[in-house]
Amino acid sequence: MLNEKMQKALNEQINKEMYSAYLYLAMSAYCSYKGLAGFANWFKVQYGEEMEHADKIYKYLVEQGARVELEAIEKPPTEFGTLLEMFEKTLAHEQFVTHLIRELLELAVAEKDYATSIFLQWFVEEQVEEEANDSAIIAKLKLAGEDGAALLVIDSDLGKRGH
Ligand code: FEO
Repeated sequence: MLNEKMQKALNEQINKEMYSAYLYLAMSAYCSYKGLAGFANWFKVQYGEEMEHADKIYKYLVEQGARVELEAIEKPPTEFGTLLEMFEKTLAHEQFVTHLIRELLELAVAEKDYATSIFLQWFVEEQVEEEANDSAIIAKLKLAGEDGAALLVIDSDLGKRGH
């Protein structure tokens, strides 16, 4: 059984994961509009992953007999600037999520909630992977610079990301 504080914090995290999904769907739409099908695919897959993150927490709360309370999802931006700026925003957002996961873990430890501590381990690892993926794409975009042909190669590469 989860205590009130932990329930509230996990419910808030569902909202943050849903916002992440919404943000990446907005980025995917932005890329589609710009004719960048590969980048659009990458963000669409990322959107799906974020929905899975929200669902993981949802399932955990249900499994623990806790109350799920869904809040309104904030509206994401519609303009994201250059591809490099968009990925820098993505990385900054993931760093924020990493910070939230760390806070959740600290709360679980402080409350001696070992089941939730173990549950959160998966998210700790996932955040390492997400930040690494974003950093790798940022590095490629910096190398490509304004070179249209190089950007199309990256676009084609990101188009291969599967669900
Ligand atoms: Fe669910 Fe990208 O963190």
